[in-house]
Amino acid sequence: MSAPATTSGAGLGFELFARDGAARRGRLTTAHGTVETPAFMPVGTVATVKGMMPEQVAATGAEILLGNTYHLMLRPGAERIAALGGLHRFMNWPKPILTDSGGFQVMSLASLRRLDEDGVTFKSHLDGSAHRLTPERAVEIQDLLDSNVTMVLDECTPFPATEEQAASSMRLSMRWAERCKAAFRLRPGYGLFGIVQGGVYPALRHESAAALRGIGFDGYAIGGLAVGEPPETMLAVLQETAPALPAERPRYLMGVGRPQDLVESVRRGVDLFDCVLPTRSGRTGRGYTADGEVNMKNARHRDDPRPLDAACGCPLCSGYSRAYLHHLFRAGEMLGPILLTLHNLTFYQTLMRGLRGAIETGSLEDFAAAFHEAYGRGDL
Ligand code: GUN
Ligand code: ZN
Repeated sequence: MSAPATTSGAGLGFELFARDGAARRGRLTTAHGTVETPAFMPVGTVATVKGMMPEQVAATGAEILLGNTYHLMLRPGAERIAALGGLHRFMNWPKPILTDSGGFQVMSLASLRRLDEDGVTFKSHLDGSAHRLTPERAVEIQDLLDSNVTMVLDECTPFPATEEQAASSMRLSMRWAERCKAAFRLRPGYGLFGIVQGGVYPALRHESAAALRGIGFDGYAIGGLAVGEPPETMLAVLQETAPALPAERPRYLMGVGRPQDLVESVRRGVDLFDCVLPTRSGRTGRGYTADGEVNMKNARHRDDPRPLDAACGCPLCSGYSRAYLHHLFRAGEMLGPILLTLHNLTFYQTLMRGLRGAIETGSLEDFAAAFHEAYGRGDL
């Protein structure tokens, strides 16, 4: 690609090379390297992508991982990770890391949560000990972790919520976003992302996006989606929200999603994703292929000598049969989840590479149509 205009400043660099409709082909530059976008971030919640060595994760094509403030502040503790040289060193992942802020995980995992204007108090899901997160402490923890991309502390508005509930929740998140910006320590190669909330209400999404634009962030996430609303609703909210975000900054759709969601969200202008699906499914026997999802525990694989996906170059598909993988899952052997997680992460990264290539050649609509045509044929 020809030399693009660089937009690196004090924080994160982000260059856009090509567009296809609303979709964008870009590159994020951090202190720990670059990320070709649209990109998928494997989830490494507790400083590990479950069952994977970091070298294996990198070999799938992943260039950035997600880590979690909530889990790491509780165990082993942010100050301890800082003393050990930061999260990259601690987990032996030298590439970029984005960390979620903890608000979402507090609400889904902790007990006895109490939210007030200043922050959130909760009890650890590990030992019941009491903890507090404020916007300032969430930013400080992510600084201690040495995260390249810090997320603001927010409240993920549940679904369903009335417009009044979604409005007051979103406005609290916007006040917290402003405090996170004030607390964030500017340095080259590191950045802070705001998070749009507002539930399924277009006017609230626009109000939230405008508030975040006014504060000014290195990137803009879309939160509060994939929380139980129908997929069409999610795409409608996305279509409404993405154009309200600054075109020259990265956009991150949090916690999404299935392969078909990634394709449709890239079409609507999203640059960054994270989701537990490829890793979690890998542990439960669900594999992703171009022809759809496959349940490896199903007896129909018992005598099948073929690889899971003949077109895939991952270690699973290069050396092992469906029959063998089925056997590993039936026997409860740990190699089953390891091999299938490797494959699923490879599938996700291959899909993102395909999307990036299609945007570069202006063929995203054809790519998406071909993807959906084949993907509908899974056995689940
Ligand atoms: N992960 C998935 N959705 C969300 C959200 O709305 N906020 C945060 N902080 N993390 C998320
Ligand atoms: Zn494979």
